[in-house]
Amino acid sequence: MIGDIHFSKQDFGDDFSWGVATAAYQIEGAVDEDGRGPCVWDKFAKIKGKIKNGDNAHIACDFYHQYESDIELVRTLGFEEFRFSISWSRILPQGFGDINEAGIAFYNRVIDKCLSLNIIPWITLYHWDLPQALEDLGGWKSRKILEWFESYATICAKAFGDRVKKWIVLNEPMAVAGLGYTTGLHAPGKKSIANFLPVVHHLALCQSIGGQVIRDNVAGAFIGTAISCSYVHAASQNLKDLRAAKRADALMNRLFIEPALGLGYPIDAFGFLGNIKRYMHAGDAERLRFDFDFIGIQNYFSVVVKHSYFAPVVWLKEVPARLRNVPVTAMGWEISSGGMYDILKQFDAYKGIKEIIVSENGAAFQDNVDGDKIPDIDRKIFYQNYLNAILKAKKDGVNVKGYLAWTLMDNFEWAEGYDARFGLVYVDFRNQKRIIKDSGKWFASFLKA
Ligand code: FCB
Repeated sequence: MIGDIHFSKQDFGDDFSWGVATAAYQIEGAVDEDGRGPCVWDKFAKIKGKIKNGDNAHIACDFYHQYESDIELVRTLGFEEFRFSISWSRILPQGFGDINEAGIAFYNRVIDKCLSLNIIPWITLYHWDLPQALEDLGGWKSRKILEWFESYATICAKAFGDRVKKWIVLNEPMAVAGLGYTTGLHAPGKKSIANFLPVVHHLALCQSIGGQVIRDNVAGAFIGTAISCSYVHAASQNLKDLRAAKRADALMNRLFIEPALGLGYPIDAFGFLGNIKRYMHAGDAERLRFDFDFIGIQNYFSVVVKHSYFAPVVWLKEVPARLRNVPVTAMGWEISSGGMYDILKQFDAYKGIKEIIVSENGAAFQDNVDGDKIPDIDRKIFYQNYLNAILKAKKDGVNVKGYLAWTLMDNFEWAEGYDARFGLVYVDFRNQKRIIKDSGKWFASFLKA
């Protein structure tokens, strides 16, 4: 027991993994170095108004150069595992074809640094940074991506699979389909409902293709994929709101897990998804299935939705947390550890899921620098409450076997730029100075105990 919390690391069991998660584009910087090709975010960030404060990720956390001391920080915080993603355009500047050996060499250095500190590396194959060259050929809208992704995954599996056993195929495909290609709030900034279904289908196929590539090339691999999920509440018991909640649940929680489990797309709750058959080829229903060793769930908040006549296709809208008088983070996301418990139970109810890893969870708050301290009490309490909810779910039978906090250090938070700070370590982006926040210190004592 530490301070006022009533659980310890041991309560989660000896076989529970503790780590921190990161993503290439958010931390690496060095976008033009050593032969890296541009990715969709490089282009997107140049468009005025897309990223808060006109920020870009040219330098980000400079992890490309500071990876050694940053990985040492993972140890200082007491974590035993480190999740990072591979930048596709560092390995294949054109998306396919010639391999950039300097890209492979960089990730070899990262992996070897982890291993030298007894830190278990986790690779995410795809965390949103599609090579721009592929976007120019249609990106996720094109069925060609099945081949592009398969060859990229094969290269990574062969290059790193001797030392890396824990693999996440895709990070939050719903964000790619929804924000990247439908609302245009993320790169590549495409805005059309017509993109949604083909992009979803190609992502869902790549999810299983990537899993199979790793299975075929990496002996002893532990393979999963990471899904964004939020427990959905209906705003009222009115039938229209209840149906809206079911549609939101289909989109936010069921869309990528169910095809992987062989259950097909959740058309029962959202008829529009039935149109996806236009993009399905013979054999696809079977190709969507993959027997993942684990499913990564990424949960930050729960949502409340209601029916809306103003939102064509989905016919629903979210009731923002700020209007509901509930506590929120700096992102405006509802703080709801109960939502973490509920979503864990929901996923655990799928017979086909073997194991759950919470592959991301964390919070942005306004951090105040106090000398060389960051007294981020809100974040510390957030983590304690969410961990407590995970432990409760575990005690209630949910097979959750690991927790990766989001994130090691403040970084380039996509469209929010450097404004939203999620780190356990504070980064002063003027000089790249790192300061361990109180939440990070709390983790260090919790994980040591
Ligand atoms: C998740 C993303 C991650 C980060 C956190 C805050 O949706 O996977 O890169 O942006 O949210």
